[in-house]
Amino acid sequence: MQNEVIIKANKVTKNFKMESKTFEALKGVSMEIYSNKISVIIGSSGAGKSTLLHILGALDKPTSGEVTINGKQIHLMNDKQVSAFRSTEVGFVFQFHHLLPEFSAAENIAIPLMIAGKSKKQSLVRAEELLELVGLSSKGDNKPAELSGGEQQRIAVARALANNPSIIFADEPTGNLDSINSNSINKIFQTLRDELKKTFVIVTHNAELMKQADYLYEIKDGVIKPGN
Ligand SMILES: Nc1ncnc2c1ncn2[C@@H]1O[C@H](COP(=O)(O)OP(=O)(O)OP(=O)(O)O)[C@@H](O)[C@H]1O
Ligand SMILES: [Mg+2]
Repeated sequence: MQNEVIIKANKVTKNFKMESKTFEALKGVSMEIYSNKISVIIGSSGAGKSTLLHILGALDKPTSGEVTINGKQIHLMNDKQVSAFRSTEVGFVFQFHHLLPEFSAAENIAIPLMIAGKSKKQSLVRAEELLELVGLSSKGDNKPAELSGGEQQRIAVARALANNPSIIFADEPTGNLDSINSNSINKIFQTLRDELKKTFVIVTHNAELMKQADYLYEIKDGVIKPGN
């Protein structure tokens, strides 16, 4: 199906309350994210990109407004329902990979599966498949410190895919990488879109990734700029 809406945000606001004042990070964002596409969110530092990404991915709740992901109304769920939803239906990749240093690459990928209730054996079999998907079959036994920055980020992508989510969110996934490693991450995203029908929502400054986006959104001072 073409251009099917998978995430819908309606009049989303996010206020951060501080001691003496409230900061309005998002001021009424309404947008749609399409299934099986790469959507890129751009904007200057402090514009509200990460705040928006976290809300679109159910990592955080809006102050007001509605967010529907995969047909589920996130704003109506309690915390327990949201975390159950998050562990199977969405995956996250961050600028700094947050791999656990004391575990091997394969174990880092397997951990979210074990948390979701799979046995260690099943989880490690799935981890092997995911290592192959990101081109790192031979590195499963390496600890994060024994991998290059680009390899670490590919492991983080594999980990985000562990529970087979339909949507992957990435916040500056190539922010720390050189152009060769960035391109390899970009290619993996495109392959996953084309072959596994994944949906991507990516915050990036990476010009190549912007060029390859199916949809580009610009956020400025907590509002999506029209015309993209
Ligand atoms: N927990 C918080 N408490 C108070 N203010 C916050 C909090 N989180 C974010 N903000 C503010 O909200 C605004 C948007 O922050 P956000 O992290 O979404 O920006 P960003 O567009 O991702 O920026 P960058 O490109 O630097 O990562 C910023 O002005 C920030 O200071
Ligand atoms: Mg940010």
